[in-house]
Amino acid sequence: MATEGGTVRSILFTWALFLAAAASVASQALPGCQDKCGNVSIPYPFGMTPSCYLNQNFSINCNQSLPQLLESDVVVTNITLEGQLEILNYVARDCYDANGTYVEGILSVLWADMFTISNDRNKLTAVGCDTEATITAIREDTDSGYFTGCISYCDKEETTLHLNGSCSGIGCCQISIPSGLKYLNISVTSFNNHTNVSDFNPCGYAFVTDRSKFTFSFKSFEELASIESLPLVLDWAIGNEMCTVAETKSDYACKQNSICHDPVNRSGYICKCKDGYYGNPYLYNGCQDIDECKDLSLHNCISERNCVNTLGNYTCSCSKGLHGDGRKDGTGCIRNALDVIAIFIGRCSL
Ligand SMILES: *[C@@H]1O[C@H](CO)[C@@H](O)[C@H](O)[C@H]1NC(C)=O
Ligand SMILES: *[C@@H]1O[C@H](CO)[C@@H](O)[C@H](O)[C@H]1NC(C)=O
Ligand SMILES: *[C@@H]1O[C@H](CO)[C@@H](O)[C@H](O)[C@H]1NC(C)=O
Ligand SMILES: *[C@@H]1O[C@H](CO)[C@@H](O)[C@H](O)[C@H]1NC(C)=O
Ligand SMILES: *[C@@H]1O[C@H](CO)[C@@H](O)[C@H](O)[C@H]1NC(C)=O
Ligand SMILES: *[C@@H]1O[C@H](CO)[C@@H](O)[C@H](O)[C@H]1NC(C)=O
Ligand SMILES: *[C@@H]1O[C@H](CO)[C@@H](O)[C@H](O)[C@H]1NC(C)=O
Ligand SMILES: *[C@@H]1O[C@H](CO)[C@@H](O)[C@H](O)[C@H]1NC(C)=O
Ligand SMILES: *[C@@H]1O[C@H](CO)[C@@H](O)[C@H](O)[C@H]1NC(C)=O
Ligand SMILES: *[C@@H]1O[C@H](CO)[C@@H](O)[C@H](O)[C@H]1NC(C)=O
Ligand SMILES: *[C@@H]1O[C@H](CO)[C@@H](O)[C@H](O)[C@H]1NC(C)=O
Repeated sequence: MATEGGTVRSILFTWALFLAAAASVASQALPGCQDKCGNVSIPYPFGMTPSCYLNQNFSINCNQSLPQLLESDVVVTNITLEGQLEILNYVARDCYDANGTYVEGILSVLWADMFTISNDRNKLTAVGCDTEATITAIREDTDSGYFTGCISYCDKEETTLHLNGSCSGIGCCQISIPSGLKYLNISVTSFNNHTNVSDFNPCGYAFVTDRSKFTFSFKSFEELASIESLPLVLDWAIGNEMCTVAETKSDYACKQNSICHDPVNRSGYICKCKDGYYGNPYLYNGCQDIDECKDLSLHNCISERNCVNTLGNYTCSCSKGLHGDGRKDGTGCIRNALDVIAIFIGRCSL
């Protein structure tokens, strides 16, 4: 009988967990709003209809299950509440035939002025044996132009003998970019129209991409021929004021149990749930208390039974007849001295 009761309880428990999980997923968008386009989650402040996004800058056009930034063909592949947005950006290329005659070229232009290009996640990379990549952009903080580039060179022997995956100027070059860039243009040119290398490298390529998503190898020459775009990470933020100013405004976006955060070297602010809370800080009641007691890695009490969840935190306690702080890194729970004395006296009286 006890086993049966236990089974029923555990089924109910599983069901309750399932409901909780479903609720937390749904809560990423405004109530009543679709929270997914294809397989990409669209958390508020982003949304797909005017009543579902914070303002036009966060408008996602869900075109045949393909999320795109407002009025552009920029495809969005991931949105995080930590203030980043992954998009697909075109690979720029510059191709020649065996006689050194120009065949095709693609200039990559990113026209998303409401967000800036993440400098901690992306790098400018060029691949080719006769290749010069340049980028132009506008720096958000100064509104001035920015221009940089890198050169990659190699001959056939070098390529086949020495290419070993490092992007260091032989067949591949890579440079960091500063924070706060927007209106990114990437172009590629060559010095000698790929003369003498065209049999294995007829094209030069350049792209700004999430550095964790591209690894250079000899195969890159061939693979890039059929890659139209690569992931690029944008930084997003609300408005263009700092927290201290935004907090006084009526349209301040951070809701209960969240805090405002000024991103380094770019304008606007982002919201984060306070420690001890999780969820979407841009939604009414979006930051929910974490029940630390349910997760061994989140609490320091000697057991779950000794853990009491509180709003935003937890405390450890000892059951009746015991004292101490109930913590693994503290005193734990110790039998009360009074009880020990009582037993001692008891024995004496025998
Ligand atoms: C999303 O869908 C696209 C195509 O439908 C697929 O290529 C991609 O891997 C999917 N992403 C995830 C995270 O499932
Ligand atoms: C949807 O995407 C297709 C192809 O990517 C494009 O031709 C069409 O104009 C887009 N529709 C809208 C409403 O943006
Ligand atoms: C989106 O990005 C975050 C942070 O980089 C990552 O943890 C998550 O797995 C990504 N989601 C998808 C569907 O790629
Ligand atoms: C290269 O030039 C030669 C001689 O002019 C010509 O026969 C050949 O067709 C050209 N090859 C290409 C790919 O245009
Ligand atoms: C290289 O290509 C450019 C553009 O097509 C052309 O004007 C030039 O003559 C070519 N140079 C050589 C050496 O083939
Ligand atoms: C949208 O982004 C642009 C460019 O950063 C900015 O000038 C504008 O104020 C933003 N719109 C809103 C409603 O915040
Ligand atoms: C990027 O290229 C586009 C189109 O060629 C041009 O209108 C724009 O001014 C360029 N932007 C920068 C920052 O060079
Ligand atoms: C190949 O790898 C070695 C050791 O990692 C390094 O010293 C060398 O510079 C690399 N060669 C090239 C061409 O990148
Ligand atoms: C191509 O190779 C030939 C023969 O080795 C050499 O004379 C010529 O300078 C090379 N051309 C370029 C542009 O490197
Ligand atoms: C912010 O800007 C300062 C000065 O331009 C620079 O030294 C610093 O590295 C930048 N920090 C980041 C995270 O980009
Ligand atoms: C939770 O409480 C402990 C001690 O009571 C404290 O050290 C810790 O900073 C608190 N954590 C949060 C997120 O408030």
